[in-house]
Order: sequence, then C-alpha cells, then structure tokens
Amino acid sequence: MKNEYTTLLSQCESIISQEDKALETLLTEICTLLQKEVKHYDWVGFYFADHMAQTLHLKAFAGIPTDHTEIPFGKGICGQVAVSNENFIVEDVTAQDNYIACDIQVKSEIVIPLFVDKINVGQIDIDSNIKNAFSQEDATFLEQLNARIADILF
Ligand code: SME
Repeated sequence: MKNEYTTLLSQCESIISQEDKALETLLTEICTLLQKEVKHYDWVGFYFADHMAQTLHLKAFAGIPTDHTEIPFGKGICGQVAVSNENFIVEDVTAQDNYIACDIQVKSEIVIPLFVDKINVGQIDIDSNIKNAFSQEDATFLEQLNARIADILF
C-alpha cells in the first residue's frame, strides 16, 4: 500500500480509538480526514443496512449534502453492493444504468462493504469528480479501514 494510505490508516485508527465519542462522530471524523487528504476523494460517506427493511441509511459523510440518505437494497451502486457483498469500482458513472446521481460533478465511484462477523452491515462510499479515479490500491486501503472499524467499533 502507498505510504499515504498507510499513514491515513493509522490516523483513522487513532480517531476510532477515542472511546468517549459516539460512532457517528468518529465516522464523520474519518470521512472529513479522507476527503481532505486524498485529492481524488470528493465525497466520502458511510451507509449502514437495515436488513429487515432492506434499506441503506447514511450515517456519516463529508462533502456536499446528498438527498439520498436512504437507498433501497439493489438500487444504485450502493444498493447493489448491499446485495452482492462485493467491492464495486465504477470507472465512469455515466456508463451505469443502475446508478443514483447525487451531484452532476461526480465521474467515478468506489463502494466497499463493511463486514461484522462476516455479515455485510454497511459500506464506505466514495465519489470522485475525476473519471476512473479509483484503483485496487484504494480498494485495499478501504477494505483495511472497514476491517479496523468493524474490529474496534462493533
Ligand atoms: N451514487 C450512489 C448513491 C450515493 S451518492 O454517491 C452519495 C449510488 O449509485 O448508489
């Protein structure tokens, strides 16, 4: 992993080790850090699943506020990941039929599921205003971040 991501991962670990703060606050601090530090991360958010209702709910984010605070399973990139349990990297959002646009500036997107005891409980969703912005390196970094969040916070 690039040095930048190794450093960010340990900064995120410090954030989530603050035991006195609420989950939402800690996740918002992570979103803010990532959005500020990584050039191609323009919007960063965490959605969590309500498995009974089959919906995703926005818990924390940094970037432009979105109307899509609740997303049904199967809808959009996020909703597809809720069902597939797989990472999803979208090089060009205009080429996706099942896509929910939050901001017309967005060109590419990455969604990485967050597993707690092997159950897909949510996801980190990142939008970029640059086309084809995300690589396997981003996926590895975000998988590791989600694993730390699952270990420490759940
Ligand atoms: N583009 C996402 C919706 C969430 S916004 O990116 C904040 C999707 O298609 O699921």
